[in-house]
Amino acid sequence: MSQIKVAINGFGTIGKRVADAVDAQEDMTVIGVTKTGPSFGCELAVKKGFPLFCTSDEKESINKFKEEGYECKGGISDLLNLCDVVVDCSPGKLGKSNLEKYKSAEVKYIFQGGEKHELTGLSYTSSANHLENLNASGTRVVSCNTTGLSRTLVPLYELCGSLKVECTMIRRSADPGDSSKGPINAIKPVLKVPSHHGPDVMTIKPEIEINSLAVAVPTTIMHVHSIVADLPEDHGLSTDSILNIWKNTPRVIIMNGVKDKISTTAEVMEMARDIGRKWGDLHEIFVWEDGVKLVNNRLYYFQAIHQESDVIPENIDCIRALMGTESDWKKSVKKTDLAISKYYNID
Ligand SMILES: NC(=O)c1ccc[n+]([C@@H]2O[C@H](COP(=O)([O-])OP(=O)(O)OC[C@H]3O[C@@H](n4cnc5c(N)ncnc54)[C@H](OP(=O)(O)O)[C@@H]3O)[C@@H](O)[C@H]2O)c1
Repeated sequence: MSQIKVAINGFGTIGKRVADAVDAQEDMTVIGVTKTGPSFGCELAVKKGFPLFCTSDEKESINKFKEEGYECKGGISDLLNLCDVVVDCSPGKLGKSNLEKYKSAEVKYIFQGGEKHELTGLSYTSSANHLENLNASGTRVVSCNTTGLSRTLVPLYELCGSLKVECTMIRRSADPGDSSKGPINAIKPVLKVPSHHGPDVMTIKPEIEINSLAVAVPTTIMHVHSIVADLPEDHGLSTDSILNIWKNTPRVIIMNGVKDKISTTAEVMEMARDIGRKWGDLHEIFVWEDGVKLVNNRLYYFQAIHQESDVIPENIDCIRALMGTESDWKKSVKKTDLAISKYYNID
C-alpha cells in the first residue's frame, strides 16, 4: 500500500511533534514542513531530513532561507501540490486564509484546537468520533484540554448513557518554550464564564452536558483539571470500577499519588521524561488514583494534561480517518502508539 503523503504547515511546538509522529508510522510519510523564515527550528527539519518549505509563496521570503544556508524547496503552494493531507499547525486564528489555500489545492486538511469548530464544522478526538470523520475532507483536532476531557469522559458516558459535568481547568500560563505569556506571580481567572474549554467537548460528543471555569497559574509544565461529574441514578458503578474502566482506556495513565510518590505535576513530568519520548512528552492523560471518588452518583477526580503532546497521536489517527484507511479507532490508536514506542525504543 502506498504511504499517505502528509504536509505539516507550521513547524513549531505542535508541528515538529506531529512531524515526528508521522515519521514513526509505516503508512504515512512527511512530504514537507513549513517555516515563515529561517530560524532555529529549520535545523531540526534538516537534521530529520524533512523537506523545508516556506509558509508564503513570495520569492523574497523563499530566498531568505537560502541566504541563511537552508535549502527551501518552495512555497506553501508547491508543498500542497505534493501532499494528500495537510496538518495545519500554524498559530491559532490563521485558519480562514489557510483553509482557502487547502480547498483550492484540493487536499484534505486538519486544523488544531486554536481554531474554532465553526471553521471546519467538524472536530475530532480518537475515542469520541473517529467514524464521523471517516473520509471527511477536513476537520479540527480539538485542543489539549478538550482532548484530555474526552479521554476520561467519553468511556464513562458510553457506560452510563448520560453525564453532567462541571470542571475547573487549572491552566499552565505558557508553554515551556514561550517567554511572551504570563502571569509569573499571580493566579488569573478567565472572567468570561463559563470558559470555552468544557463546552468544546460537545463538538465531539454533544451528548455530554458540560461547563467549565478556568484559571491560569504560574507554571509551564502541565494543566490540571478538577472535575465533578454527575452520573445517572442507576449507574451501578463504584470508584474501583470507574478506575478499572480508565485503566483499560488507551492513553490514560492511573497512578497513586501517595504510594507511587507522584503527588504533583512536577513528578508526573519527571516520570514522563523517564518514559523516553522526545521533549519529555506525555501523550497520555494522567489521573491520580487516590484523587478519584464516587459519592452516590457524583464523581470527583483530578487529571493532568501535558499540553504540548496529548493531541499528537490524535492527529495521526485523524489522518487515517480522513484518508479512510482505518475505520476502527482502537486499531488506529494501537498502530499509532506502537509505532511511536518503536521509534523511541520504548519497551
Ligand atoms: N502549544 C500547545 O500546547 C498546543 C496544544 C494543543 C493545540 N495547540 C494548537 O496548535 C496550533 C499550533 O500551536 P503551536 O503552539 O504549535 O504554535 P507555535 O509554537 O507558535 O508554532 C506555530 C508555527 O506556525 C508557523 N506559522 C506562522 N505563521 C504561519 C502561517 N501563516 N501559516 C502556517 N504556519 C505559520 C510558525 O512559523 P515560524 O516557526 O517560522 O515562526 C511556527 O512554526 C494552534 O492552533 C494551537 O492553539 C497548541
